[in-house]
Amino acid sequence: MKRYCLSLVILLAVYSSNLFAQQHMDVQILGNAESINKENNVLVIKTKEAEARVWMYSPTIIRVSISKEHSIDTSFAVVQQPQGDLQYKENDKDVELTTSALKLVINKSPLRFNFYTADGKALSQDDPRFGTNWQGTRVINYRKLYKDERFIGLGEKTGNLDRRGSSYVNWNTDAPNHGPTTDPLYETFPFFVGMHSGLTYGLFFDNTHKSYFDFGASTDEQTSWYGADAGDMNYYFFGAQSVAQIIEDYTWLTGRMEMPPLWSLGYQQCRWSYTSAAEVLSIAERLRKDKIPADVMYCDIDYMDHYKIFTWNKTTFPDPKGMIDKLKSMNFHLVTIVDPGIKVEDGYKQHDEGVANNYFATYPDGEKYIGSVWPGRCYFPNFTDKAVRDWWGASFTALTEPGVEGFWNDMNEPAAWGQNIPWMVKFGKFYMPEIRNVYGMQMAEGTYLGTKKILGNKRPFVLTRAAYSGTQRYSAVWTGDNSAYDAHMLLGQRMVNSLGITGMSLVGVDIGGFTGNPTPELMVRWNSLGVYTPMFRNHAAKGTKYREPWRWGKANEAIIRKDIEQRYKLLPYIYSSFYQSHLTGLPVSRTLAINYTQEDSIYSEHFQNQFMFGDAIMVAPVESTKLIEDVYLPKGEWYRLTTGEKFKGGKIIKAAAPLTDLPVFVKAGGIIPMQNLVQSTKEKGDGILKINIWNGTKANSYVYYEDDGSSYDYQQGNFYKRTISFDPKKSEITLGAVEGAFASKYNKIELVLHGFNAGVKTIKVNGKASGFAFANERNEIKVQY
Ligand code: GLC
Repeated sequence: MKRYCLSLVILLAVYSSNLFAQQHMDVQILGNAESINKENNVLVIKTKEAEARVWMYSPTIIRVSISKEHSIDTSFAVVQQPQGDLQYKENDKDVELTTSALKLVINKSPLRFNFYTADGKALSQDDPRFGTNWQGTRVINYRKLYKDERFIGLGEKTGNLDRRGSSYVNWNTDAPNHGPTTDPLYETFPFFVGMHSGLTYGLFFDNTHKSYFDFGASTDEQTSWYGADAGDMNYYFFGAQSVAQIIEDYTWLTGRMEMPPLWSLGYQQCRWSYTSAAEVLSIAERLRKDKIPADVMYCDIDYMDHYKIFTWNKTTFPDPKGMIDKLKSMNFHLVTIVDPGIKVEDGYKQHDEGVANNYFATYPDGEKYIGSVWPGRCYFPNFTDKAVRDWWGASFTALTEPGVEGFWNDMNEPAAWGQNIPWMVKFGKFYMPEIRNVYGMQMAEGTYLGTKKILGNKRPFVLTRAAYSGTQRYSAVWTGDNSAYDAHMLLGQRMVNSLGITGMSLVGVDIGGFTGNPTPELMVRWNSLGVYTPMFRNHAAKGTKYREPWRWGKANEAIIRKDIEQRYKLLPYIYSSFYQSHLTGLPVSRTLAINYTQEDSIYSEHFQNQFMFGDAIMVAPVESTKLIEDVYLPKGEWYRLTTGEKFKGGKIIKAAAPLTDLPVFVKAGGIIPMQNLVQSTKEKGDGILKINIWNGTKANSYVYYEDDGSSYDYQQGNFYKRTISFDPKKSEITLGAVEGAFASKYNKIELVLHGFNAGVKTIKVNGKASGFAFANERNEIKVQY
């Protein structure tokens, strides 16, 4: 009896301590290495708690994954495989893995991962006490925080450029009315760049669960930490010693964008909603009549029949093809919105097909999940399944047949009224919490690959609101429902710049602010900034005042027109900048932290919104209420674009900022190919490519790129590309020989030299005296000035 009682007591004690452990989610810290082996080029280290695996992806990229299960090892983001032979040395204390650029020192007891440059400079280390640990299913990694450490990245996040002292959550969320501190928003990019002691590194936490990042916000500045509700401590460490190279590596790993259709880089006019075909056409006609250059018209949700995806409202849009033909005759392209929710309605094609094939999300017992969105009660396609994506993609014929070429994927966080899709809802084999952050990306993938197939060799334009790392392979993004006030304009610019760090180059904001009504000054100012926003779209919410350029009075319309004209003149430069994104992953809008990483002033709240637009242009966003603004010019020399005034950098200047002239500067030595004014990207123009060069003391070069702007033939070598070099020491400008088979749409090249004083008079082309303009010769051309 006594023994029985004792065992009962022990049993109860064990039970209650388990209960206690569960209730309190005790912390379990990764302990000592018990075995270390190399298996198929993977370093496998076992501890009591878990198993760590280490792979080499390139000399600058090492992956570590610490897991209790390692049951699934797939990634939505990563498109590369490990490469090279993994080399390591082992002694009693640690394991050392070395590449030509990096050294990973793995401390055995306890198991901790510490990264150094190949020559031994400390980049980033596990916190020696806590390293990787678990609380319940939550997995967390604590890292040493350096005194001077800064952090940039995480894509679409509010807050400052330097994220030190801030914390964030990734949980894709429909966030209408968000403000400058709201978190989370619509997208998840769990990738950041850390900088300290003059060094740089990057870290991509490839875990799709709800995740958390704390850059020393809540730790008394002791550690930074990140983690997720479940899944593996699966991260890629980047050790390149420049932010640009880290971005190049990150986009090598997660893929790069294809060339966008040229028309998508023109001015885009949108509204929720132009409610009839007649209205869409009248807006397009007015843009042409008022000579506001433009390329794109949008149809928001009201073009549909009761918001049913892949339908048209027969009363208000009775002849979609007729409308689109008319738009095309005016050189417009049409983008239509698609939302994931499929209306529950027997007899509706998408509904019936989805039901018949079990394509929709379900409760665990198989019952289809219903949430309410615009159409009312809806089913939600399981976009994680390729068959569903293929089906979804093929359904776009309803839009492509009448002539739609752009597809705007909205509400794909996914949004459902109440914003609380139950955790038990299943998308195929995945429960909602593990799939939510990639749902939008998977929808965009289905849309892009599907429409690409339907359109044959024509490039579709895809825009998505929700995203995860890797979305750049399929789609552009915009920053969702912003608001019509100055701080939101500045926030939007920071988000565009931050998205650039995480691989998204084709990014836009709703110019003018989606919610609310901008003042005329804000509208004008925001439009000026739009010229230098990779995707230039004017959009507004239902119930707001109309926003088109002519709604602001003649004088303001003239400024808006002048700015949009500037966008069109810059298109050869903008398109070449997108070619850079396609090739290297470097974004078009670049936070100054990419090129001027070590200059403290660029991180200050006052200057953090400034950015490079391509290689040569620097833009200083200014609130609409300020007509003069302090601008920080990074080291080097700069010219004000509009006045030609020259400045020495490395200091703050007071820049005049009238509404007619946003402070925009060109770097000395800057090379900017431009064209004459056209009203759309379809127009041929005068056939002259104007290569603008601003004088400087340092040699510079720029790759000019052109192709047909609409097909995939460039992937077969049908492009026109030449390197333009400027060498002030030799007083020489060289247009390198043309690469690629494409015949340029320009038949003349003109050199426009800025700040060269009288030098232009003695210009010589290939040794012979010449004027400015000369035939578009494909061989190398040397110009002496
Ligand atoms: C969402 C989108 C917005 C769109 C509206 C109606 O709020 O973010 O851009 O206009 O839905 O479709």
